Amino acid sequence: SKTEECLERLQEAGPPRREDLIALLSLRDEKALQPLFFAADARRKETVGDVVHLRGIVEFSNYCERNCLYCGLRQANRQLKRYRMTDREILEAAFAVKRANIGTLVLQSGEDPFYDAEKLCRLIESIKRETGLVITLSLGERPREEYQAFRQAGADRYLLKHETASPSLYHRLRPGSRLENRLTCLGWLKDLGFETGSGNMVGLPGQDAAVLADDISLIDSLNADMAGIGPFLPHPQTPLSSCPPGEVLPVLTILALVRLTRPVIHLPATTAMSVLHPEGRLKALASGANVFMPDFTPPAYRRLYDLYPGRSADSGDPLSILNLLEKELNRYGRTILP
Ligand code: 5AD
Ligand code: SF4
Repeated sequence: SKTEECLERLQEAGPPRREDLIALLSLRDEKALQPLFFAADARRKETVGDVVHLRGIVEFSNYCERNCLYCGLRQANRQLKRYRMTDREILEAAFAVKRANIGTLVLQSGEDPFYDAEKLCRLIESIKRETGLVITLSLGERPREEYQAFRQAGADRYLLKHETASPSLYHRLRPGSRLENRLTCLGWLKDLGFETGSGNMVGLPGQDAAVLADDISLIDSLNADMAGIGPFLPHPQTPLSSCPPGEVLPVLTILALVRLTRPVIHLPATTAMSVLHPEGRLKALASGANVFMPDFTPPAYRRLYDLYPGRSADSGDPLSILNLLEKELNRYGRTILP
């Protein structure tokens, strides 16, 4: 069948063909998509195995200078109470990640200039010294010199989602910023020896199959080590409040296509997926995903890290969430690895 032909070509070496991606992206019902999910799951098993990698995430500040149209942390959202965690609180959260037997800490915040390069370097050094954790940063766009200083201080990885591969949509959704600059930052990070993560939202207003095909090609051409892919969820206190949310099937489709085009990439099953569907994360893990990121932000702050609605439904204690996940995964022959 046509689907099988496209699938076979996608698994050959070299960049994916745009027509093949678009053909597969336009399959819309679960039955027609089954062969794609099946192929991606098999590929995942072959290349990265049955292990699900854990990353403990700490969201240490919800201040942000930007005004992305989709995001609840946008500066213009004056209804949100803002917080910054102290160095002590951040270090405590890092210890909690360590105690959960997780090997990687992800430090994330809005674009908050309060944490300048010097403060962050001191923080990175002390976390490294006291915990030995692998450190992933997710702090947005910064000058090259700052990225370099973070690297020297001991940071190992950096997440900077490209958000959408369409330059015009990017510019519309992120006033005052350009996709080109984002891609320059991703290039610097690679050069400096960071393992890098990119990724995009699915179901943004104005995004069609061609844009999603470009998202997949961009993740491939960036040589991303990781890609965070999840549905767009409209936030009531943003200009996109009345837009429809993304859907489960298109996200699973993109995850599967990324797995097939970049077989060894790390793909998290995102929190936004479980907001859309109670089994959303498990479905993601069955369609190419192999990473899970439990939230170690202290509960009082967690509900204020309000990127999109529904996140706090997931706000249990990370250890009990991990226990549950492990039980569920074991049913599918998957195991958890710190
Ligand atoms: N829906 C889904 N994801 C969102 N993010 C921000 N706002 C939303 C939303 N409304 C994601 C972006 C960003 C990350 C911090 O949160 O992809 O990279
Ligand atoms: Fe700030 Fe990131 Fe939200 Fe944009 S998406 S407003 S940069 S936290």
